[in-house]
Amino acid sequence: MRHSLTGSILAHRDLGDAQFEMTVLAPDIARDARPGQFLQALYVGAGGPLMRRPFSVFHADPEAGTLAIVYVARGAFTIGMSALRVGCSISLVGPLGNCFVPDARPAARHLLVAGGVGAPPLYFLAREMVAAGHAPKSICVINGARSRDLLVAGADFAALGVTLRETTDDGSAGRRGTVADELRDQIAAGGPCSAYACGPTPMLRAVGSLCVEAGVACRVSLETVMPCGLGVCMGCVIKLRNEAEPEGHSLVRSCHEGPIFDASEVIW
Ligand SMILES: Cc1cc2nc3c(=O)[nH]c(=O)nc-3n(C[C@H](O)[C@H](O)[C@H](O)COP(=O)(O)OP(=O)(O)OC[C@H]3O[C@@H](n4cnc5c(N)ncnc54)[C@H](O)[C@@H]3O)c2cc1C
Ligand code: FES
Repeated sequence: MRHSLTGSILAHRDLGDAQFEMTVLAPDIARDARPGQFLQALYVGAGGPLMRRPFSVFHADPEAGTLAIVYVARGAFTIGMSALRVGCSISLVGPLGNCFVPDARPAARHLLVAGGVGAPPLYFLAREMVAAGHAPKSICVINGARSRDLLVAGADFAALGVTLRETTDDGSAGRRGTVADELRDQIAAGGPCSAYACGPTPMLRAVGSLCVEAGVACRVSLETVMPCGLGVCMGCVIKLRNEAEPEGHSLVRSCHEGPIFDASEVIW
């Protein structure tokens, strides 16, 4: 169920490298949020933004009534947001969109593939899976970025006890290369597995193609620009394969029918 509320900021941590973790008191959203869902956020301030921005839920604690997001301050909205102090208010609408559903096969390995700020929803997924009784070693997180300073949530994944494989384009941390390189090796290790991915579009396209070729189920969470996030403006429409349609595809709203889709259906 979707809620619209004004939450008080309880904690706002500077994680370094322009990354921030913000915890907000938002009991209704914390109760209902599922891994992969997102919020539309807006704050008020001198010269503050007029348009909301989407952020994935990084962690929700229904008992404490809190939820957290992790974001990179990279443009006007997020740089302004990084200046908000504890006690300030932030307007949130959510939880929005669909969620990741773990592969139910008992022997399945779960390959969580994150690129940059695609990591937060996969951390929420890994955390919920461990809490639900999945063996941490059945969860392999492949966390990638261009360089070490752009890796997100590495320590949080490690604290869950899951298998963590990091990749960087420049080799400054983990394996030099892309998440697709590591994913290829993980799939080649054999056994039933499923992939869940979030990150920039070129990464998702590479990961999705690899999985389709290997016959591995893969769900991708798209980082489409979302002007409203509520299914109203049609600014986030993407194409999905649909042979029943005359043009061979359907148009769907990433914010409403997604943001998570089967990689085999997405027309990139
Ligand atoms: C479902 C979803 C979940 C997201 N979760 C996170 C998250 O957990 N952490 C995080 O740091 N970022 C997340 N993002 C991206 C985040 O919304 C953008 O970083 C933010 O909008 C940038 O705004 P800005 O003004 O600071 O930067 P800008 O300079 O305006 O934009 C920087 C980049 O952000 C993207 N962007 C800008 N406006 C939008 C918009 N309205 N909708 C989507 N993307 C936009 C574009 O790729 C742009 O190039 C998510 C995006 C989506 C669609
Ligand atoms: S962002 Fe407006 S319809 Fe999806």
